Amino acid sequence: MGKILEKDIKNVLLTKEQIEKRVAEMGKQISEDYAGKDIIMVGILRGAAIFYADLAREISLPVHMNFMAISSYDLSSISSGAVRINYDLEEDITGKDVIIVEDIIDTGLTLKYLYENLEARGPKSLKTCCCLDKPSRRKVEFKPDYVGFEVPDEFIVGYGLDYAQKYRNLEYLGALKEEIYRC
Ligand code: IMP
Ligand code: MG
Repeated sequence: MGKILEKDIKNVLLTKEQIEKRVAEMGKQISEDYAGKDIIMVGILRGAAIFYADLAREISLPVHMNFMAISSYDLSSISSGAVRINYDLEEDITGKDVIIVEDIIDTGLTLKYLYENLEARGPKSLKTCCCLDKPSRRKVEFKPDYVGFEVPDEFIVGYGLDYAQKYRNLEYLGALKEEIYRC
């Protein structure tokens, strides 16, 4: 992996091996919980793309791959709270078993908004799955059904997560050096 990205990382929080192991466990759990069903997995672009691709391959049931693109964060690392749907689902989820797949839950505003938006479309069931959870930063109460790892209040990049569109292709999860996002 390129040294150009590595130099901005303060420390590695979760290695590639730790992530692989946990994602496999999550896939197994979901496969058990939804045994005999088809799942509509709604990946939230772009942050969840890499987690989504790994998780889907650890699920032993038919997975309908669907995506939504939203924007809540601009170039800064501070959440505005406003969520805009830039690309919506192409599949009707009425009467279906749906799981929202997100990269990270931070304040909770994004996931709460998405949950309410999809719930209004009348799915049979609706659950949420996040690779990371930063519970200390919650502004609205929201508890995802499946969580990969709880993480401290740091700005985290890699494994799909970005800062200003960079670092998504790091294969581990790391804390970004403060001087990068506080300048
Ligand atoms: P929330 O609405 O505050 O829960 O923010 C959720 C979204 O903010 C996530 O989907 C991420 O795109 C972004 N986000 C929150 N914390 C981080 C972080 O530490 N690194 C990268 N993106 C983050
Ligand atoms: Mg996101």
